[in-house]
Amino acid sequence: MVYTVGYFVGSLSSRSINRLLSRALIRLAPDDLEFVEIPIGDLPLYSPDYDADLPPAAVALKDAIAAADAVLFVTPEYNRSIPGGLKNALDWASRPSRQNSFHHLPAAVIGASPGRIGTAVGQQSLRAVLSFCNARQMTAPEAYITFTPGLVTEDGEVTDPKIEVFLEGFMREFREHIVRVLTVLPRG
Ligand code: FNR
Repeated sequence: MVYTVGYFVGSLSSRSINRLLSRALIRLAPDDLEFVEIPIGDLPLYSPDYDADLPPAAVALKDAIAAADAVLFVTPEYNRSIPGGLKNALDWASRPSRQNSFHHLPAAVIGASPGRIGTAVGQQSLRAVLSFCNARQMTAPEAYITFTPGLVTEDGEVTDPKIEVFLEGFMREFREHIVRVLTVLPRG
């Protein structure tokens, strides 16, 4: 059995450290997880006016989440909260009413920042939203990554062995979480 993980990179930056982190996580993940990025950059700003007739980018977003067994959020913290682009994607995915894409979906959250707090405050905002959207979040381990220059190469290699081991363990735990949730709440 292979599990499909849809992953969100919460940054639109072309030099995103969180995108590098996502590459590292994919490299270090157990072999039976496969990864598909769920892009957020082409979504218009959400309005309920769209609910009756979703634009193609929103249909693609909701289809990608429906096709995934789980979702992984790899995101910076902006002003101690969720980056606006990612929050917009969450709002799209949660609507229209009674078609919330996150219902019972296994999810995990991780993020990197140059600062010592390592996105901890932003992750709490994200966790509150996912909780309201009824996603089945992995609550432990938490992962607040302080990103020093060169920590992850462009290819996703982690240069600090302790952090590499930590990230590998995080992905192993996420895999166990996915299996546990899907045993009780099978998809589709
Ligand atoms: C930041 N940054 C930041 N860092 C942090 O630790 N806590 C914060 O609240 C914020 N707030 C914030 C707001 C805005 C608008 C920007 C552009 C940046 C710094 C941020 O962590 C840094 O730019 C990271 O490199 C962002 O991650 P990506 O885009 O490189 O993945």
